[in-house]
Amino acid sequence: MSEPRRPIGVFDSGVGGLTVVRALRARLPGEDVVYLGDTARVPYGSKSPRTVERYALACQAFLLARDVKLVLIACNTASANALPALEAASPVPVIGAVAPGAGSALEATTGGHIGVIGTLGTVRSGAYERALAARPGAHVTSLACPLFVPLAEEGWVDDDVARAVARRYLTTLFAADPAIDTIVLGCTHYPLLRDVITATARELARGPVAIVDSATAMAAAAAAALPAVAGSDARTVTPGALACFATDISRLDEIAPRFLGEPISSFELVDL
Ligand code: DGL
Repeated sequence: MSEPRRPIGVFDSGVGGLTVVRALRARLPGEDVVYLGDTARVPYGSKSPRTVERYALACQAFLLARDVKLVLIACNTASANALPALEAASPVPVIGAVAPGAGSALEATTGGHIGVIGTLGTVRSGAYERALAARPGAHVTSLACPLFVPLAEEGWVDDDVARAVARRYLTTLFAADPAIDTIVLGCTHYPLLRDVITATARELARGPVAIVDSATAMAAAAAAALPAVAGSDARTVTPGALACFATDISRLDEIAPRFLGEPISSFELVDL
């Protein structure tokens, strides 16, 4: 007898992790997904590693109580600061954002000059540098770009303000290493600004520049992990269900669909 169908759990500091759910549902449309956004405590990016770890453990415990078969840490800040603690606390496999994002960068880079943009917490952790050290001679330059988060949430992703902010950040990034040929969008929110980041990077770069994001790479990592995961043999042809939970529901109706790219029927308010 096959095991009962179990969902994939995804959590983030807020709604930005819905970019990972979006990529996951595109890649694995038959999978049920449980999403938790810790919207009452967002942002994680400006908080200390100890606090991020504590919050992330509470998020993961919530998902594990819903019998998820796999945990995806959509939040780059939580992945960068809390992956070992989350893995130690989980009986099911845990996929963070950093290794898949770094893997995509290593596939894309031509000259080994990689720029990483993310929150302050992600950049300070040095997690991408450690993951990218797998390539001998890789030259990694990281920059915190905190203003991209509120821009994405406001939906100001393709206007003069977004272009000015992108130009200011990326000018700093390319000043540190003019030979950057690949940029990792190391934050849940940045895929929404992909077009403006790409256009600005192409103006500033010496040559071709590839833009990779951890959301797409995480969906691929989940697809690769699933065959070995218990509860994954009960496939159906019906589209997977999405259940969304949040620790605060203010403005979710307005903001969340921007990240998911489809309407969300509802968020259930929970206390961790
Ligand atoms: N989810 C966070 C990340 O990917 C961005 C928002 C925050 O600072 O909490 O790093």
